[in-house]
Amino acid sequence: MTESTSFRAAVIDDEKDITISLSRILEKQGYDVTSYLAGEGFLENLKKKFYDLIFLDVNLGPQKLSGIDILKILKEKGFSGHIIIISGNADISTAVEALKQGASEFLEKPFNLKEVQRCIKQFEKSADLLKERDSLLSGIMSRYELIGSSSIMESVRKQIEKVALLKEPVLITGESGTGKELAANSLHYYSQRRGKTLYRINIAAITDSLLESQLFGYEKGAFSGAESPSPGLFKAATGSSLFLDEIGEMDVKLQAKLLRVVQEQEVLPLGTSDVISVDTRCIFATNRNLPDEVKAGNFREDLYYRINTFEIMMPPLRDHREDIPQLAEKILMDFSFENNLPCKELDSAVLEKLSEFPFPGNIRQLKNMLVKALIESGKEDLIKSEHLVLESGKTSQNISGIVSSDLFWETSPLAEKKRALERLYIQTQLNKHGGDLKSTAASLGLVVNNLYRKLKEYGINP
Ligand SMILES: Nc1ncnc2c1ncn2[C@@H]1O[C@H](COP(=O)(O)OP(=O)(O)OP(=O)(O)O)[C@@H](O)[C@H]1O
Ligand SMILES: [Mg+2]
Repeated sequence: MTESTSFRAAVIDDEKDITISLSRILEKQGYDVTSYLAGEGFLENLKKKFYDLIFLDVNLGPQKLSGIDILKILKEKGFSGHIIIISGNADISTAVEALKQGASEFLEKPFNLKEVQRCIKQFEKSADLLKERDSLLSGIMSRYELIGSSSIMESVRKQIEKVALLKEPVLITGESGTGKELAANSLHYYSQRRGKTLYRINIAAITDSLLESQLFGYEKGAFSGAESPSPGLFKAATGSSLFLDEIGEMDVKLQAKLLRVVQEQEVLPLGTSDVISVDTRCIFATNRNLPDEVKAGNFREDLYYRINTFEIMMPPLRDHREDIPQLAEKILMDFSFENNLPCKELDSAVLEKLSEFPFPGNIRQLKNMLVKALIESGKEDLIKSEHLVLESGKTSQNISGIVSSDLFWETSPLAEKKRALERLYIQTQLNKHGGDLKSTAASLGLVVNNLYRKLKEYGINP
C-alpha cells in the first residue's frame, strides 16, 4: 500500500453483506469508501463525486441497471479509474465482456481477503502512476465548476457533459459576464482531451493580421518579421481544444479561412502551399446575436451553421436569481482563500438586496460587487447592507426614461433598434465615467479592446 492515501472507492452491490465486508477491508487500508446497493444511486452521485477505484457487481437485481450497463456509461463519460467487476455466477463470458468494455479486473464471489487485497494492490500499482495527474485534474475541474442548482444551470451542466465527449465544434452564447469562458473550460475538462492544455485566443483583443498568423501559423519569411516558422494555434492545439472567444468580432475574410479548418480539419499556414492536418476541437463564444450579424452581412452564414450545431446558451443571472446565494458563497470563499482573508458570511439583508437587483453585468457584476463589499466590510465579521454598493442602480430609472422616449416607440427592425439602444447605453456609460475607457469597459463587462471596437463602429468619440 502506498503511503499517500486516501483513494476514493465505491462499492456497488445489491448484497448488503458484500458492501459491508468490502468497505471494511478498504477503510482499514485508508480508503474513503461509499457503498451503493444500486447503480442508479451511484450514477446520480457521480456528478458530485470522483472515484479512483470501483468495485462493481454484475447482477444488481431485476429491473435495475446491470454492472455491464454501468460500466458502459462510465466509459462513455470518459471515466479512467480502475473498475473491478464482481460476480457470483462464475460466468466467464460475463468476465470477458466486462474486460472488453474496459474493466481492469474480475473478482469472483465468494472471495476471500487475500483475493481482495491482491486486487487492491494491483490497483495501487497502476494508480501510483496516474494519481498525480488525476488529482491535479480534479483540482482544475472543481475550479471550473459552474455553480448553481437552479434547473436552468442544471440543464447547462448536463448539456456541457453531453457534448464534451464529441469532437464537433460548440458555440457558447450569452450576455457578457454569464460564464461563457468558464463553460468553455468546463467543457474541455469534461472531454477526453482534458489531459492536454486548453488553448485560447480572444479575437477581439488582437488585430486581424496578427490573428491570422497566430491561428493558422506561418513559414519563415511569410511576412516581414517572420524570422522563424510558427505552427499556429490550430496545430499547437491538435489533440486538444481551442477556445476562440468573441468569435462575433472576427473579420469576414478570416471567417472563410476559419470555415475551411473547422470543416476539413486542415490548416494552410501563411507563406506555404502545404496543408497541415489537425485534430483540434473548437469551442467558440460570443455575446453577439449571430443570426442578426448574419443578416447584417457581418458573419458568414455557412460558418454560423457549421459552428452552431451544438449551442450552449448561458442564461442571464436575472433568469436564475435563485442561484445568487450559492454563487455569492462560492465567490466569497474563493476570493478569501486566494487572498488569504478570513471567510465572511452575508447578512440576510444583503442577500435580499442582491435578489432584487437586475444585474445587467450578470455573474461578473455580482462578483465585483461582492468583492468590493468584502473589502468595505473591513474588520467586521459579517458583510452588511451598508457595505454593498448596487452599481448602476440607476438602471431601472434609465430604462423608464428610455421607455418613454421616441427611441422606444418609433417602429424599426429589431436589429436596428438593438444597435440604437446599445449605442445610447454605451454613450451614457462613457459620459458617466468621464470618458475613461477602462472604467467604462469594466462597467459594461467588456474588455477595453472590445469597447474600443464598438466606439469605432458607432462613431462615438471617447
Ligand atoms: N455558474 C458560475 N459559477 C461560478 N462562477 C461563475 C459562474 N458563471 C460565471 N462565473 C464567474 O463570473 C465571472 C465571469 O464569467 P466569464 O468570464 O466566464 O463570463 P463571459 O460570459 O465569458 O463574459 P464576457 O462576455 O464579458 O467575456 C468569472 O469570474 C467566472 O468565474
Ligand atoms: Mg468571456
